[in-house]
Amino acid sequence: MPLLNRLLSLVVLGLSAVPSVLSFQPGFNYGSEKVRGVNLGGWLVLEPWITPSIFQNTGNSDIVDEWTFGEYQDYNTALAALQNHWNSWITEDDFEAIAAAGLNHVRLPIGYWAFAVGPGEPYITGQLDYLDKAITWASNHNLKLIIDLHGAPGSQNGFDNSGQKMSYPTWQSNQTNVDRTNDIIKTIISMVDSEYETVPIIAPLNEPAGFDGDQMLSVVKQYWTDSYQSIRYPYGSSTESNTVELIHDAFQSLSYWDGFMVDGYDGVAMDTHIYQMFTYEQVAYNYSQHISEACSHGSSLADFDMWIFVGEWTPASTDCATWLNGRNTGARYDGTLSGTTADGSCTGKTGDATNFSTEYKQFMRQYWEAQVISYEKGSGWIQWTWKAENADDWSYQAGLQYGWIPQDPTNLEYPNICG
Ligand SMILES: *[C@@H]1O[C@H](CO)[C@@H](O)[C@H](O)[C@H]1NC(C)=O
Ligand SMILES: *[C@@H]1O[C@H](CO)[C@@H](O)[C@H](O)[C@H]1NC(C)=O
Ligand SMILES: *[C@@H]1O[C@H](CO)[C@@H](O)[C@H](O)[C@H]1NC(C)=O
Repeated sequence: MPLLNRLLSLVVLGLSAVPSVLSFQPGFNYGSEKVRGVNLGGWLVLEPWITPSIFQNTGNSDIVDEWTFGEYQDYNTALAALQNHWNSWITEDDFEAIAAAGLNHVRLPIGYWAFAVGPGEPYITGQLDYLDKAITWASNHNLKLIIDLHGAPGSQNGFDNSGQKMSYPTWQSNQTNVDRTNDIIKTIISMVDSEYETVPIIAPLNEPAGFDGDQMLSVVKQYWTDSYQSIRYPYGSSTESNTVELIHDAFQSLSYWDGFMVDGYDGVAMDTHIYQMFTYEQVAYNYSQHISEACSHGSSLADFDMWIFVGEWTPASTDCATWLNGRNTGARYDGTLSGTTADGSCTGKTGDATNFSTEYKQFMRQYWEAQVISYEKGSGWIQWTWKAENADDWSYQAGLQYGWIPQDPTNLEYPNICG
């Protein structure tokens, strides 16, 4: 933040230092207005399936994530490729188009390494300048920006999109990792607390692997309350910030979280991610099964005891997008992922939308609307993702272009699809 703004915000705080004067005032009316947004995936955190060309251009098939992108390449080569990507993948034009599409939020994934790289960690930095630009662009186009810490030291899930692909995550197994993560959250809030009208929310950790059991979940729950202090009380006193903490359900059912951080807390929201292609059962669904499962989420979202966003979801219904399951791996849907049998052919399901059939695009429109209707029973939705190099089924931009996403997200063709 420019120093002058920082000083002005300190002055304002000083003048209003009577405890009861400041009350929590989030930068968006989460209780009464629906969040409608899109993720800026694959920009400040690389994902092989979103930008396969960046990985192909390395000529090294052992480069599977951002960690190995730094580890197995000459520093200057890797830095130049990243800078070129940061400068071109998302620009202010994208923010303008997102606002023009009637959306009100963007969620921006960023890795811990943008803030502090530890000894022996091969990550390349430089992302913070683009975070600054993104905040300015969001402000220019009246969009709310969620800062989403997508990768933590040691990896919180072992996914390539945490920065470091590994068979079992290690973030939770060493308190130093957890403390470093919370320190980064303190850095982030100190950068954006006064800009809460543009950055109303910080998500202190994306998708921790709760499916790995209590050794992960116990650390996650402690971290949600510790990072709450960092985000909601950054001034080290009883004075609240206006910034909301967005915790994630760690892949547990919503009922698991009933009552968690409700009494005695405010300004906490829950993030849940809903996909229907990462289990064998779901990827085999026919169109009507996909739609009815989407509709089925509405009631638990409506009943949840805090603001709840579906912070990732997609009208894609297969895992056919090249490298969606990791670089050099295939898909469940067509049986090319080892250990799977085919449900169908991936031809015409992903890639360029000019190859999508009319019937498939009509299904995508219905499935998109079913999800929007269902997720707006909660506090709203943020689709994954704005653009992808070679997977139009995942691209909000392509959906707008080819018609399975309406230009105005409230303009539904199938308003009764969920009955
Ligand atoms: C935890 O991580 C820190 C920093 O990477 C390291 O110095 C320390 O040895 C680790 N502790 C354990 C118990 O592995
Ligand atoms: C979809 O699958 C369900 C469950 O097997 C079946 O009842 C239904 O008839 C199928 N729908 C279509 C359109 O094939
Ligand atoms: C359309 O599909 C065919 C058959 O799979 C493929 O060869 C072609 O490259 C695709 N075209 C586009 C534009 O994706």
